[in-house]
Amino acid sequence: MECALQLATQTHHPALSRFPTGRSTQLEALVSSVRASLSLRIEETDEVTPIVASQLRSFLSARELLNQTQRQPNAHRYQRHALYRDEAGEFTIFALIWLPGQETPIHGHMAWSAMGLYAGELNLTHYEIFGTRAGQMHLKQISEADIREGDVNSVTGDINDIHRIRNTSCKPAISIHVCGMDVAAESQSLNILFPQ
Ligand SMILES: [Fe+2]
Repeated sequence: MECALQLATQTHHPALSRFPTGRSTQLEALVSSVRASLSLRIEETDEVTPIVASQLRSFLSARELLNQTQRQPNAHRYQRHALYRDEAGEFTIFALIWLPGQETPIHGHMAWSAMGLYAGELNLTHYEIFGTRAGQMHLKQISEADIREGDVNSVTGDINDIHRIRNTSCKPAISIHVCGMDVAAESQSLNILFPQ
C-alpha cells in the first residue's frame, strides 16, 4: 500500500521522481548504503566500485526490494527500470529484467558500475581489442562466466573493460546495477557500443 501511494505521488510530481518507479524501505536502505560507500572515496576513481558491489551483495536477498512494476519484462529486449537517480547526479540504480535469450550488445561503460544478480542466472563474457584491420576493430573473447543469484561483479569506467551480458538460461533473470553517473530513464549514455 505504501509503494502504491508513493507511485501516485511520483506521477503527480515528476520533479521529485528520484525513485521514478516506486520506493521501498529496502531500496531506500540500498541508496543509503551506496551513498555511504561513495563517501569513502578519496578521489574520482574506480576504486569505489568493489566497495559498492560488496554493499550491493547484501541486498540481493531482500525480497521486498522491487515492486511488481520494477520486475516487468519486455518481450522484445531486456528491460531496464530506473530505481533511483541521485539528486547530485553521482549515481543511478537500475533493475534489469532478462527473458531467456535476451542480451546486451558488446559494450563498455562511460562510468564505473556494480552489478548484482537478484534472481536467475546470467552469462558475462569479457573481450579485449585484438587489433584493427581495414579500419575495422576486431575483438577477442577473453573470459566467460555464469553468474548466479547473490553474485556481484564490478566494471570499471575504462573503455577497455569490454563485455556482454546474456541470459542463456531457460528462466527469467533480474539484475541490479549501480552506475557512477546520472542516466535518464531511456538514455543509453552509460554504454559505448563495439562491433559485434
Ligand atoms: Fe555493462
